[in-house]
Amino acid sequence: MKLNKKDILEALRTITVPGAGENMVDSGAVTNVLTFGDEVIVDITIKNPTLQARKKTEVEIMKAIHDKVEQKAQVKVNLKVDAPAPKEKVEIKGKAIPGIKNIVAIASGKGGVGKSTTTANIAVSLSEMGFKVGVLDADIYGPSIPIMFDVPHERPLSVNVDGKSKMKPVESYGVKVLSIGFFTKPDQAVVWRGPMAAKALNQMIFDAAWGELDFLLLDLPPGTGDIHLSIMQSLPITGAVIVSTPQTVALADAKKGVAMFQQESINVPVLGIVENMAYFTPEELPDNKYYIFGKEGARNLAEDLDVRLLGEIPLVQSIREAGDVGRPAALQSGSPLSKSYEELTRNVVEETVRRNKSLPPTEAIKITTMAGCSAVKN
Ligand SMILES: Nc1ncnc2c1ncn2[C@@H]1O[C@H](COP(=O)(O)OP(=O)(O)OP(=O)(O)O)[C@@H](O)[C@H]1O
Ligand SMILES: [Mg+2]
Repeated sequence: MKLNKKDILEALRTITVPGAGENMVDSGAVTNVLTFGDEVIVDITIKNPTLQARKKTEVEIMKAIHDKVEQKAQVKVNLKVDAPAPKEKVEIKGKAIPGIKNIVAIASGKGGVGKSTTTANIAVSLSEMGFKVGVLDADIYGPSIPIMFDVPHERPLSVNVDGKSKMKPVESYGVKVLSIGFFTKPDQAVVWRGPMAAKALNQMIFDAAWGELDFLLLDLPPGTGDIHLSIMQSLPITGAVIVSTPQTVALADAKKGVAMFQQESINVPVLGIVENMAYFTPEELPDNKYYIFGKEGARNLAEDLDVRLLGEIPLVQSIREAGDVGRPAALQSGSPLSKSYEELTRNVVEETVRRNKSLPPTEAIKITTMAGCSAVKN
């Protein structure tokens, strides 16, 4: 099933906004409509609704789409309040973080496409270029950064900074690392709700002695769910890098990832897309390229979405091996692989600089109410 934006807008034109006297599309209350397959996300902004009016509007939107467009559509309504009543406002937790210049989130829709591998290699490349770099492993489902940096058994020490105890990140290859994995037992499945994860991450940012950092890379868990919203609500993220393989299912999820960051209520700039596992190359036949997941899928997606393709990383056995033994492939300076990672990293830096020139710093939060999603309110 493929929903179409025009039909959705037509359906929404049958709803009037309380107090506006006009339908919600022409009155400008509908600020964005996004569709993916059978999912539709409707962003609306309404002036000071009562709780009841808000619920009513949500129900009306769902009903209009189900009745007039597609009964099985999965509808999500993000309702923003123009002049919110104070008690409905979500608290702004952290604005700029002293000493940390840029927080770059590495995300994907689909799992296992190489976020952590890409994060580790970008971090190492940044460090080799002379930047001060930290990596925060935010993957509460499967933290893999400690293994990729060969520090699986380390535990952060406590240090005293200006009379306050703070966590000292573990250092490896010139990169400062903190991971949820340092605080959980290996093999222990951690099932956390978004707000809990956000709280733990907040501690790892605000109660840690990162010192001065040019880049803090945030290795996100796979998906586009509750946890991601909580994280984005509580941290001022400079930009996001989306990782995808060229495979259709991965691309569909990458598209959702891009849309999640770009939706008006979140509004984190997408720095670009990385095509990981772009083609397979056997080590002994470096000129042979096999497009086993399809060709240039992420390149085409980047073009479609008008975001930059930041780099193409081949599927190579040594990348996997390097990850497993905790020595990121980008460390082998001069190798073709480390050159691919360097190019990717240069593009990430370039896009970050461009973003910082053209936009004000991302605020920790722009979300006031997310219907259908739980919001952090502690
Ligand atoms: N370019 C590549 N070439 C070869 N192997 C790769 C490449 N990228 C990632 N891998 C391997 O694929 C597996 C998954 O990668 P990784 O853990 O980085 O993905 P992820 O997106 O972080 O996964 P998750 O969603 O579980 O967090 C790992 O074994 C990794 O070593
Ligand atoms: Mg990972």
